[in-house]
Amino acid sequence: MRACGDHVARGFWYEAGMRTTIALATLVLLGCDGGPDAGTDAGPVDGGVDAGRTYVPEPFEPTDATRAYCPADDDAIEARITALLGRLSAEEKIALMHGAGTAVVDGSWRVDGNEAHGIPGLNMLDGPRGLSRFSGYRGTAFPVAMMRGASWDPELERRVGAAMARELRSVGADVLLAPTINVLRHPRWGRAQETYSEDVHHLGAMGVAMIQGIQSEGVLASAKHYAANSIENTRHEVDVVVDERTLREIYLPHFRRAVQEAHVASIMSAYNQVNGLYCDLSEHLLRDILKDEWGFAGFVESDWIRGTHGDAASVLAGLDIEMPSPIHFRFLRRALANGDLTERDLDASVRRILRAQLCYGLDTRARVLDDPSQRETAAHLALAREAATRGIVLLRNEGGLLPLGPSARVVVLGRAADVGNIGDTGSSSVTPTRVVTALEGITAQAAAVTHVAGASLSAADADAVRAADAVIVVTGLLAADEGERDVGAGDRAGLALFDEEIALIEAAAALSANVVVVLEGGSALLVEGWGERVAAILHAFYPGAEGGHAIADVLFGVHAPSGRLPFSVPRREADLPPFDNTSPRVTYGYFHGYRHLAREGVAPRYPFGFGLTYTTFAYGELTLEAAVIEPSGTLRARVEVTNTGAVRARETVQLYVAAVGSRVERAPADLRAFAQVELAPGETRAVELAVPAADLAFYDVTAGAFEVERIAYEARVGPHAAEAASTASFRVE
Ligand code: BGC
Repeated sequence: MRACGDHVARGFWYEAGMRTTIALATLVLLGCDGGPDAGTDAGPVDGGVDAGRTYVPEPFEPTDATRAYCPADDDAIEARITALLGRLSAEEKIALMHGAGTAVVDGSWRVDGNEAHGIPGLNMLDGPRGLSRFSGYRGTAFPVAMMRGASWDPELERRVGAAMARELRSVGADVLLAPTINVLRHPRWGRAQETYSEDVHHLGAMGVAMIQGIQSEGVLASAKHYAANSIENTRHEVDVVVDERTLREIYLPHFRRAVQEAHVASIMSAYNQVNGLYCDLSEHLLRDILKDEWGFAGFVESDWIRGTHGDAASVLAGLDIEMPSPIHFRFLRRALANGDLTERDLDASVRRILRAQLCYGLDTRARVLDDPSQRETAAHLALAREAATRGIVLLRNEGGLLPLGPSARVVVLGRAADVGNIGDTGSSSVTPTRVVTALEGITAQAAAVTHVAGASLSAADADAVRAADAVIVVTGLLAADEGERDVGAGDRAGLALFDEEIALIEAAAALSANVVVVLEGGSALLVEGWGERVAAILHAFYPGAEGGHAIADVLFGVHAPSGRLPFSVPRREADLPPFDNTSPRVTYGYFHGYRHLAREGVAPRYPFGFGLTYTTFAYGELTLEAAVIEPSGTLRARVEVTNTGAVRARETVQLYVAAVGSRVERAPADLRAFAQVELAPGETRAVELAVPAADLAFYDVTAGAFEVERIAYEARVGPHAAEAASTASFRVE
């Protein structure tokens, strides 16, 4: 038995109040070992589940899904697993199905293996911003996922995923608890920064890319939080009521893509309830949809500490691993003895857990416990800078104030200017060795900089503001304003900037026509009232360790901005569906974000997909390869884009589709494809986009299946959700 003091001495503890309380309570409950033997309730109620054991496991035939899951020789691995299931006792099987304790030990959360049987176990750590601070190590702080979402570049995200995985492996971990692929249903969600988008297609594309990047380095990704998790303050108990069609079309498709396109190694179930059942108890979500319907071949682990609500009931619903310690799964032995669970039920979970470990070769590779040469490398820092530069969204640039010239003399103001503002203090937080603040980045590129700290301007400050070529106000949200609940700030109180910051912007705008506002924060911030009084606005999210350089690169035109909003910025919060983070039950409807605004006929301040740059683009005619496609076919579209300005830049071409004459209510249009093209001044290139007809389907609740309607559709191509540069009609027949 591992000594309690040992855990505390070597472990890295959660710091915030709630987690510490739960962690201590868990240790008391379990005894210091944290294993299934620890409590008196955990033991068998009769002669023991393994008494007189003669156990023959069920034979297993590999399927297409298990073969696709396994980068190694799947058939041999399945045979080896069958043999192991015959040799392991039921007790040993249960020991593979839960974390070893609440503390992070040797850099990660451990799920024990079984040395005698050659089973390596698992070592888990967060993502999705980089190597988790819970590891106790420093790592590259990448820009938050929402900023990477704003790059609209899955290829870039693949590289970020791979880099993160390398850093994670360097501290002995092999499961990266990322990506977060929950829908940004409302920008007040405290963890908005951790996911990619309000849109299902965009979210799926970015999530798939990150999983592919992570897993290309032999690290297991864990897509989370399954499902309908997008409120922080009530995350441990809220019941999300969602009708089956909305669930299938809005809250699940990106998880399906994670499974079927990226073959994600694991899925983390969410804390919340969906339609009256906690996610770990939801047979509908875990067993019926995820495992049976989508063919998920990996394991499901619970979210941490309060994410498991049953023992046999959770296993039967489809939960395979309780994390980070067996608060409930310590009772599995009793459930077996009682007959609430059979050993076959355990085998189904253990097969998935072993498959993950063996398919990724965790049994054959040496676990490197500390390899600093893989962390914060020059290449990773350059990638963090690239990702940040590519994620900055230029929202306004009146009179072409930006880019600033190298001789610009600037004044820098605002609460986020001199702060290493890299995101919340939650599970995704990272401790980098150094953060380049916006002030430092600007100072490195401007001819002269005057920094004014605080939210008011003295007479001398006012003179400096009047005389400056540009006044850069770096403002928005800090870690104290939004984040994960328990270990961070929770949900946002509203969508506006703080009053003092608005007053500061207005004071600067009264003195200078050249005010540039750099907004930081996880998602939408309102600009009403002050937005029209300033010359330029950029959204720079939480831009990571190299963020200050990235901001300066865009301000000074080293790179033309190419970020596009992965969410809508409304004119007022009331334009969005309500955000209720106090009620025990909330209903998630079919519409949110740009689909909601378009349906209501309400113009956003800045539409989903929007972003300016230092040039202009012209779109040619949208042409379709065929005007009629089959339900099993693919729409192939083509459009020429020309850079009509004087600066090389990247355009994100977005294809939205409207279902004309559908027999159910649809959104006015949905994003179905996007692609990027980088163009020199005057250059024209053709951009090709493909939409499988299957993606146009709606979920028919009566039939219990997706249906691709044989109707007319309209394809619209353009620079964002609210502007169709060219349209073309087609039919599915
Ligand atoms: C979070 C997860 C995270 C886990 C481990 C939970 O509270 O919801 O996203 O992976 O903690 O840090």
